[in-house]
This record gives sequence, structure tokens and C-alpha cells, in this order.
Amino acid sequence: MADADKAYGPLFDKFLKQDLKAVAADAEGKQMGERLYLTYCSQCHGSDARGAKGFPNLTDNDWLYGGEAEIIKASITNGRSGMMPPMAAAVGGEQGAKEVANYVLSLSRRPHDAQLAAAGQAKFAVCAACHGPEGKGNPALGAPNLTDEVWLYGGSEKAIIETIAKGRNGQMPAQQGVLSEGKIHLLAAYVYGLSAKK
Ligand code: HEC
Ligand code: HEC
Repeated sequence: MADADKAYGPLFDKFLKQDLKAVAADAEGKQMGERLYLTYCSQCHGSDARGAKGFPNLTDNDWLYGGEAEIIKASITNGRSGMMPPMAAAVGGEQGAKEVANYVLSLSRRPHDAQLAAAGQAKFAVCAACHGPEGKGNPALGAPNLTDEVWLYGGSEKAIIETIAKGRNGQMPAQQGVLSEGKIHLLAAYVYGLSAKK
């Protein structure tokens, strides 16, 4: 790696001076970003960057924290730690969790029990603090949009009840101090390019 860093050093410097969108549009920048991605990121986000349970898909234009190039760079540089506390007690235990889960299912028009969902709607107030009154999420907290068809942990009744009962805390490790800024810049541009509308 040290030899490679030496050989690529001047190139890292060249791209670091360029705007992220320009790097994303550059064939060589893209290729270098892809190699770095496969080395440092694929073990969690997948070699196709489509993610897995608990690891977000980076290709789909649906973002926990935001898809602007600079926000992607901040996610990589500083890391992220989405924090949802266990919430079952706050919604009245097991039955309350089932009701709120059915209300969440209704938000994305998934099959649900309408009576349970109606009972869960009022209890959703404690969730709205982070997920918003309409459940559309909050990128400042990394609180996912609950009204779409993209699920980080699963959109079945069972998975949603588990999320409510246990809470969730996904950890994206900060790369600052691990990778050089030149590498982070290329990675941010590469990830931006995966989903940016051409
Ligand atoms: C140890 C596993 C792990 C590694 C390695 C990792 N990530 Fe992540 N990454 C995560 C998790 C988990 C999240 C979601 C954090 C959360 O739930 O708040 C995340 C979130 C992100 C986000 C924010 C996504 C969004 O929807 O806003 C970006 C961008 C990202 N990672 C890019 C990268 C890049 C680029 C690399 C390689 C340098 C990388 N990650 C390496 C686990 C990892
Ligand atoms: C303190 C803020 C906070 C509160 C309160 C909160 N959540 Fe969350 N929720 C989050 C965050 C942040 C995540 C993402 C966790 C991660 O990245 O690992 C999340 C994740 C989820 C998910 C997983 C979504 C997916 O894509 O798989 C569901 C479902 C969910 N919350 C439902 C609820 C419900 C229902 C309530 C109320 C009972 C609630 N949340 C209360 C912050 C919150």
C-alpha cells in the first residue's frame, strides 16, 4: 500500500483540488474511487454498494443523512451513528409496539391491520420527535423516512416491532485519521457518482 500511495500521491493531490462533482465525472477519478471503495468500504456496503441489513445502500438516491456531495464526504470523514433508543415502554409495551408497527406499515401502504394502525396513530407522537409528524424522517438525525419502500432493518411487522423493542444504532466508522483526505475525497466523489442523476 505504501508504494501505491507514493505512486498515486500526485494524483490524489490533483483530485483533492477539484470539486467533488468534477471528480465524479472524471473517468480516472472514478476508477481510483472504485478501487478505494472495494478496499475500504465493500465489506460493509457490499461490492456492488447496494448494502445489506443495517448497512445502507449507497446507490439508490435514498439517504439517511443526505446525498449532497459535501454531506456524503462528511459522512465518510466524521462517521455516523444513528441512534434510536428502545421505545416499547414509551408506547405501552408489547401491545402498543404492535399497534405503532401497524401504523408504520400503513405509512408505506403495506398490508396492515387497520384497527391496530388506528390505535397506533396517537402513540406515534413519541416517534414523530425524530421521524417527523408524517414519518418522513430527519436527515439531521439520520432518522429514516418510514413512508417509502426502502428499509434499513426490514419492513415486515416483525422487523418493525424488533426495531421498536430493541432500538437501533448503526455505526459508520469515521475515516478521518484512517484514510488521507485525498482518498476520502475520491471516495466521496465515487459514492456521489453512484446515485447522482446523470
Ligand atoms: C464497519 C462497517 C462500515 C464500513 C467499513 C463503512 N461503512 Fe459506511 N456506513 C456503515 C453503516 C452501519 C452506516 C449507517 C449508519 C447509521 O445507521 O447511522 C453507514 C453509512 C454511510 C454513509 C451515509 C449513508 C446515508 O444514507 O446517508 C455513507 C455515505 C457511507 N457509509 C460511505 C462509506 C464509505 C465510502 C466507506 C469506505 C471508506 C464506508 N462507508 C465504510 C457501515 C460501514
Ligand atoms: C431519538 C430519535 C428517535 C425516536 C424517538 C424514534 N426513532 Fe426510529 N429511528 C431513529 C434513527 C436515528 C433510526 C436509524 C437507526 C440506525 O441508523 O441504526 C431509526 C430507525 C427506525 C426504524 C427502522 C427503519 C428501517 O428503514 O429499517 C423504524 C421502523 C423506526 N425507527 C420506527 C420508530 C418508531 C415506530 C418510533 C416510535 C415508537 C421511533 N422509531 C422512535 C430515531 C428515532
